[in-house]
Amino acid sequence: MAPAPAPEILAAFEAAKGFMPAGEGLALYAAAVDAGRLGLPLLEVGTYCGRSTILLADAARAAGVTALTVDHHRGSEEQQPGWEYHDPKTVDPETGLMDTLPEFRRTLHRAGLEEHVVALVGRSPQVAKVWGTPLGLVFVDGGHTDEHANADYEGWAPHLAEGGLLVIHDVFPDPEDEFTGQAPYRVFLRALESGAFTRVSESGSLRVLRRTGRGV
Ligand SMILES: C[S@@+](CC[C@H](N)C(=O)[O-])C[C@H]1O[C@@H](n2cnc3c(N)ncnc32)[C@H](O)[C@@H]1O
Repeated sequence: MAPAPAPEILAAFEAAKGFMPAGEGLALYAAAVDAGRLGLPLLEVGTYCGRSTILLADAARAAGVTALTVDHHRGSEEQQPGWEYHDPKTVDPETGLMDTLPEFRRTLHRAGLEEHVVALVGRSPQVAKVWGTPLGLVFVDGGHTDEHANADYEGWAPHLAEGGLLVIHDVFPDPEDEFTGQAPYRVFLRALESGAFTRVSESGSLRVLRRTGRGV
């Protein structure tokens, strides 16, 4: 049976602001528990308000590793004012810009998971460029344009250890189903075509791949 988070962790996930449905959250959690066995950090691209981070943090705690989460906290294209996924409560009244960092910090505090997470505040490719530690899991849930999704893959997949898991969110093979573009689907195909990754599982729009070869 797939590992599942404790009821209080699941409740914290469900109470947190964000977009991930519970079924996909459970699949992410199972992947994080699996990857935690490597004893390496688990990294997320796309923190937003910390909904999915809760699950990575709980799996990291159990494995004795750290969860890392990268975001500039200014929101993706589809989360900006006037777009479908905009939440006016995420706007900083002083700058007039989105700032999801305060809500993220509240989310982790409420869940009691602060000490298991390191938040990396910055642009994903910039952080990836200076990164030097192998990773047990890379969860890609950042910008959904081809530019951003490819940069996340190119920046972080090279740091993924042999046997580590690459998890991609919002993979929609059917253009009828997509709501923020098919760039994550194209990155999923790219990872498979590289020959470096093997399919593990899929749940909703979440895809889990294992690094079974070198390269990206
Ligand atoms: C779909 S949300 C993440 C949702 C989150 N994983 C959850 O479960 O609620 C995407 C996030 O990626 C961030 N983002 C988009 N492009 C980015 C980039 N190039 N560098 C860093 N963060 C980025 C946005 O600020 C946004 O918070």
